[in-house]
Amino acid sequence: MRIFSSTIGQKVIMAVTGLMMVGFVLGHMAGNLLIFAGQDALNAYAEFLQHGTHGLVWAVRGGLLAALALHIWSSVKLTRINSAARKTSYQHKLKVQKTSYAAITLRYGGFMLFCFIIYHLAHFTFGTGIEGFEKAEVYGNVIRGFTVPWVSGIYIIAMLALGMHLYHGVWSGLQTLGLNNPRYNALRKALSTLLAAAVVLGNCLIPIAVLTKLLELPS
Ligand code: HEM
Repeated sequence: MRIFSSTIGQKVIMAVTGLMMVGFVLGHMAGNLLIFAGQDALNAYAEFLQHGTHGLVWAVRGGLLAALALHIWSSVKLTRINSAARKTSYQHKLKVQKTSYAAITLRYGGFMLFCFIIYHLAHFTFGTGIEGFEKAEVYGNVIRGFTVPWVSGIYIIAMLALGMHLYHGVWSGLQTLGLNNPRYNALRKALSTLLAAAVVLGNCLIPIAVLTKLLELPS
């Protein structure tokens, strides 16, 4: 199929799968922020996702996994196309170099985020490194996890990387999906900045609140 072989096709796949993951990141963050509503609110929400969605959660997981795989695959293909173009023409080289700052940030940041997701699943889904981890006690797991300062540090650094990735990714994804008129530059900049800032702030609030003891295990 042409969409899988052309550069623009790859970019569209990248943008659409990226948007799907942005949806997840926002939903996941909103759910996690329930921690500020207390132990019962967060645990009831986690319990609902696990057992109250009649398997829908597995469909969402499958969709997200497919989106992540396609996103990585198209980034590898686009990198190959770009480096092949760089070897063939000097004029092209100038064009490629112009976009290389954002492209490099996206590539390395993306790899960092992939490593973070593996670490994050091992940590909060399987309980690696959390003493007294209990699958259904999400509130306690998050507080126990973030009480370790270097662990919170890893999350805060990862959230900054996520913010950079979202900023550049949303900016270029919206361009791919049609907002490519320079007239929309200010709108694209505002949307990508707002989204990146909201995700960094919203997610960092949790480890910071645990480290400053604003959130604690119930006595
Ligand atoms: C401070 C920020 C975050 C906190 C406190 C947090 C918390 C959690 C917790 C507690 C779980 C396990 C839920 C359960 O097993 O019931 C989880 C799962 C997960 N988190 Fe996060 N998370 C954060 C940020 C992120 C980010 C930024 C991403 C993606 C880039 C992410 C991706 C995931 C995924 C994919 C799962 C597995 C979901 C599933 O089992 O279906 N998380 N998170």
